Amino acid sequence: MKAAVITRYGSPDVVTVREAPRPTPVAGELLIRVHAASVNRTDCGELRAHPVFMRLFTGLRRPRRTIFGLDFAGEVEAVGSAITSFKPGDRVFGMCPSRGNGAQAEYVCVPERVVATMPAGARFDEAVVCEGAFYANAVLSKFGLKDGDKLLIHGGSGAIGTAMIQLAKSSGAAVTAVVATRHLELVKSLGADRAVDYTAGDFTRIGETFDFVVDAVGKTTFFRCRKLLKPGGVFAATDLGPWGQNLALAMWSSITRSHRVFIATPGRIGGFVGYLKGRIEAGQFRAVIDRKYPLAAIADAYRYVETGQKVGIVVIDVVADEEGARRT
Ligand SMILES: NC(=O)c1ccc[n+]([C@@H]2O[C@H](COP(=O)([O-])OP(=O)(O)OC[C@H]3O[C@@H](n4cnc5c(N)ncnc54)[C@H](OP(=O)(O)O)[C@@H]3O)[C@@H](O)[C@H]2O)c1
Repeated sequence: MKAAVITRYGSPDVVTVREAPRPTPVAGELLIRVHAASVNRTDCGELRAHPVFMRLFTGLRRPRRTIFGLDFAGEVEAVGSAITSFKPGDRVFGMCPSRGNGAQAEYVCVPERVVATMPAGARFDEAVVCEGAFYANAVLSKFGLKDGDKLLIHGGSGAIGTAMIQLAKSSGAAVTAVVATRHLELVKSLGADRAVDYTAGDFTRIGETFDFVVDAVGKTTFFRCRKLLKPGGVFAATDLGPWGQNLALAMWSSITRSHRVFIATPGRIGGFVGYLKGRIEAGQFRAVIDRKYPLAAIADAYRYVETGQKVGIVVIDVVADEEGARRT
């Protein structure tokens, strides 16, 4: 099969598309013929082994796995002997666990628990949305959002931000999204009640306070945002922050039991893909697709994602989605 193979840490120049052995599913796995995959910030962090302690999880000297990519959407090609709920030909999507090889390839093997059948009516390229939504959901579940809670999302235009706006709205929260001028209409179309332009002035002086504030793009700090918090309000980040300060603050707030600051940490994937499918089918969640690249040009996709300027997701079209192409 063709795959984007990565045998050492480095820049996108080390991503090479070449022949690789096609995987074989064990008893509890499915072999998926990948139609669409994605390149996201998690892949870019793994590529450069940044931050450096990531190597403890991804491999000390070189990447432990040689094919990256978390999101996949495609068709079941074959199933392991213990699989009863899927069969060859089923259209599925999901998120690869980070231990095994990923989905930036023509085929991937994944355990059954990270797979769901495609949301009704969705194209494959619209279904490679799990990574951003997974981290957004990790933050929102920790908040335990309820109807009427006020949430400010700093950075509503990335993969995590666009997902968080939609998932928070489906929980009944009132959402304010802070974005650049060019994304104001987008975040309103995703359901944000208020869109604030960070290029037009200091977003911390908008004259409102919130139950929850999230830095979804690693571009602000707790100290800058604390005036936006109501008494007892909580700040969350998806990034370590300058000099790892979010980690230190999260540890401190855990030790002191103030629970005022925390960092999004990935939980278990099982159950999440089915939850997201439910939101998509209920019309509460849609993909925001920035660019698409063929597998052969995946190194360019990494280069673009590394700029930190993508809007929503960047799709790798492993097999052009003919059905989708007919509809668009
Ligand atoms: N905790 C984890 O394990 C984990 C996992 C994945 C990602 N992350 C981190 O989470 C962050 C977000 O990830 P992502 O995938 O959502 O990122 P992304 O898609 O790359 O987000 C980029 C978006 O951020 C916007 N942006 C840039 N500067 C901004 C600013 N100062 N204020 C507001 N928006 C700004 C950009 O638009 P404009 O430039 O037009 O404003 C762009 O639309 C990254 O820092 C990433 O490293 C953490």
